[in-house]
Amino acid sequence: MKQLQEEILKLKEKENAILLVHNYQRPEVQEVADYLGDSLALCRKAQSETDADIIVFCGVDFMVESAAILSPDKMVLIPDPSSRCPMAAQCPKNTVIEAKRKHPGVPVVLYVNTLAEAKAEADVMCTSSNADTIVRRLGTDKVVFGPDWNLGWHVARQVDSGLELIPIPEHGYCYVHKMFDPTTLHSLKTKYPNAELVVHPECDPEVQKIADHVGSTQQMLEWSKKTSSDVIIVGTEIGLVERMRREIPGKTFIPALNDAICHNMKKITLEKIRDVLVKKNYVCMVPDEIAERARSGIKKMVQLS
Ligand code: 13P
Ligand code: SF4
Repeated sequence: MKQLQEEILKLKEKENAILLVHNYQRPEVQEVADYLGDSLALCRKAQSETDADIIVFCGVDFMVESAAILSPDKMVLIPDPSSRCPMAAQCPKNTVIEAKRKHPGVPVVLYVNTLAEAKAEADVMCTSSNADTIVRRLGTDKVVFGPDWNLGWHVARQVDSGLELIPIPEHGYCYVHKMFDPTTLHSLKTKYPNAELVVHPECDPEVQKIADHVGSTQQMLEWSKKTSSDVIIVGTEIGLVERMRREIPGKTFIPALNDAICHNMKKITLEKIRDVLVKKNYVCMVPDEIAERARSGIKKMVQLS
């Protein structure tokens, strides 16, 4: 493993490449990252001025597309193009077009967990770390929101001003975060009475309601560093727990569920990163016309957040 990691570091230098890595990636992939973070942080990195010629994106399809949209002058490589987010597939562009037809004049806010074609039809994007801020700053009492129903619930709870959210599709969800259930969490809280619970807003409302903190993966990490508790139960994909253990060694992190694994995220391996850097065979291409329209919604999000 060490040898492969060293090979990747050398290749990165030779090719003037940077590695953007999501918090759910395998620990050995996280270790070779130039930037490790949540969707918003990685969007910002892709957009910021970097003199790299190549971005290797270790994440799922919608994240890689966002990087390609924000960095049209760079080559954006994905180590495994079959690494796709099933939630993003739940909101095709026609669902957005139909919602706009049904609700003319109502702003459409889409979670970044959507494909470029759907993004191109939306007014503004959001991530799990800024969804409530974006909706608040739009200053309207009605928004079309998708695809994650639970994130929509979180936003409505945070904004709390009679906001009407029109969900598209009717009940979009993440299969990984659907797995957490309040009964298991209550028994973990009984077993570890001094522990605090931190969860992702893609979890069901019943899970969010019993959490001490709800936030994006990066916000969960930052909150865990700051909180006075030494034992923290973590309700999100297991990759974040691995990062927390590595970066906050003085505390104990208990996964709310050991099986909370995003199998698409885990498709990316060190071998595949090395191979894509050598072969440059999986280049993310977003047609210009779609990229241009999607870019405005992502940029608006970055401005508003
Ligand atoms: P974050 O932006 O919080 O990292 O979440 C992305 C994601 O896909 C969660 O399932
Ligand atoms: Fe998609 Fe869920 Fe995986 Fe996040 S954890 S990438 S929302 S399937």
